[in-house]
Amino acid sequence: MSERVYNFSAGPACLPESVIKQAQKDLWNHMDSGIGILEHSHRNKYFDKVTEQTEASCREVGNIPDDMAIFWMQGGATSQCYMVPANFLPSDRTADYFQTGKWANDSINEVHHYGTVHICGSSKDKNYSYIPKGDQVQYSDNPVYVQFTSNNTIMGTEFKDEPATPGDAFLVADMSSNIYSRPMDFSKFGLVYAGAQKNLGPSGTTLLIAKKSIIENPVRELPKMMQFDLMAKKEGRYNTPNTFGVYLMGQVFDWIKAQGGLTAMAEYNREKAALIYDFIDSQDFFTPHAAKEDRSDMNITFKCPNEELDALFIQQAEAKGLTTLAGHRSIGGMRASIYNAFPREGCVALVEFMKAFAHEHAGATA
Ligand SMILES: Cc1ncc(COP(=O)(O)O)c(C=O)c1O
Repeated sequence: MSERVYNFSAGPACLPESVIKQAQKDLWNHMDSGIGILEHSHRNKYFDKVTEQTEASCREVGNIPDDMAIFWMQGGATSQCYMVPANFLPSDRTADYFQTGKWANDSINEVHHYGTVHICGSSKDKNYSYIPKGDQVQYSDNPVYVQFTSNNTIMGTEFKDEPATPGDAFLVADMSSNIYSRPMDFSKFGLVYAGAQKNLGPSGTTLLIAKKSIIENPVRELPKMMQFDLMAKKEGRYNTPNTFGVYLMGQVFDWIKAQGGLTAMAEYNREKAALIYDFIDSQDFFTPHAAKEDRSDMNITFKCPNEELDALFIQQAEAKGLTTLAGHRSIGGMRASIYNAFPREGCVALVEFMKAFAHEHAGATA
């Protein structure tokens, strides 16, 4: 087997090769300081530069307006499930949430600590295989904000457009698994968060992009580590941040720029996903999980005719250097995660393997 394989992991996931190679050098000696990036103080001039560069690059790549703060926190995307209602939701008010899978449910389940939750749209009836839209969406009266998960990592569904917001409500998005996979108009959002470990870098850092006017006045008194505004004003350095995570995110933003930015990234991602979806649509051995119009370009979910064949597929794919293809336990089958850094050749190799496997097991039944 080659030194590196095609890693279809949903996250932590594969990173751009050039970024890893640069990081290998910087682990030893960062910016000619004689000190490796893991060993630098988060308050010295070298890390000032890292912070400045990561923020500037993030702003440039995402075309983030000046009235939005960019910062990072620890505790994963999961901590944002309570951070959002803690900062924004008064105890006598309601927030609306789209229920589109496990990650959305994790957020929904934390709201009651602070206020009232209203499910404004749900795809639970079909094991989250589609995105609620049109008359499947019913907002509450005057919600403070509307939250959605822009890409459902486990189910393989993706919002193609952000949902509308009623009245004065602002939009909150968990973009952990599709941030910076395509251009998005961030000015439409009150707050966006994303765990870094899919499209942006290593685990242990969460990127936040938030309207300054929205985070300025938390609705209740909160411990310092829970105040968005403080974290933003301290550039994510109120306490010791995951310095390596912030550094690597900066490298990844620069890599996206070098690929031609988000428009080029989107074309590349569309092309990679189409290679696999076009094959799935052309045959009847593999069944996709997600509804066609809501399919994700990042996570592709599909099944063989029965579970024994799913297990054999995963095992034989692994032996061919196509690794980490098992679907999440809640839906089974397979999941191919093909984030920004995942190479096109890996998608071609997967389709070749799928073709051969389907041919070999043609006629298999459920
Ligand atoms: C969409 C989404 N939200 C939240 C999470 C949870 O992230 P973390 O493990 O960083 O808390 C994940 C993890 O895969 C995810 O895919």
